[in-house]
Amino acid sequence: MKEIKIAQAPVFTSPNPLTFICSQKEDGTTNMATLAFWTFASTNPGKIMFSLNKGAYTLELLKKNREVVVALPGIDIANKLIACGTSSGRDTNKIEKFGIEMQKLDGTSISVPKHTRLAFVGSVCETLDADDHIIHLCDIRKVYVDESENGTFGWNGYAEFASAKKG
Ligand SMILES: Cc1cc2nc3c(=O)[nH]c(=O)nc-3n(C[C@H](O)[C@H](O)[C@H](O)COP(=O)(O)O)c2cc1C
Repeated sequence: MKEIKIAQAPVFTSPNPLTFICSQKEDGTTNMATLAFWTFASTNPGKIMFSLNKGAYTLELLKKNREVVVALPGIDIANKLIACGTSSGRDTNKIEKFGIEMQKLDGTSISVPKHTRLAFVGSVCETLDADDHIIHLCDIRKVYVDESENGTFGWNGYAEFASAKKG
C-alpha cells in the first residue's frame, strides 16, 4: 500500500453523498451550506452526525437555535453545491442570490430546496471539538424522501457532482 494524506482519502470512498445543511437565521430565513462530512449515528432513536468547520456561519446559527435540516440534493441543483459551499450566509442571502427554489416541510420552520431527495429534520443534542471542525450529534424526529429526485454524489473526492450508478 502507498501512504496518502487524509485530504486525498475521499477520492477512494467516492461516490460520497453530499448534503445541504439548512439552518435558520435570526430573521427567520433559511441559510444553506454545502456539507460532505455527515453520517448515520444511531437508528433507535434516530441520530445523525455531521462536522462543521469553525469558520462556518451555520455553526453560530446552530449554537443559538439547535434546529437543523440536513437535505440531500437532487441532481437538478448539483450546480448550487459549489456556490453554497464557497460563500457565507453571514453576508449573503444564498437562496436569493443563487435562485434556489425552496419548499416547506411539516414539523419544521426551516425550508429545504424543492429538489431534495432525502431530508433529516432534527436538533443538535451534543457537540464535540474536533480541532478544525466541531462534530454535531443530532436527534432526528422526521425523515422525508422524494424518490423522483435523483440524488447527487461527489465523485473523484468532491471534484465532480453526479448521480451514483451501479456497475
Ligand atoms: C463540496 C463541498 C463540501 C463541503 N463540506 C463541508 C463539510 O463537511 N463541513 C464543513 O464545515 N464545511 C464544508 N464545506 C464548506 C462550507 O460549505 C463553507 O464553509 C460554507 O461557506 C459555509 O457556509 P456558512 O458560512 O453560510 O455556514 C464544503 C464545501 C464544498 C464545496
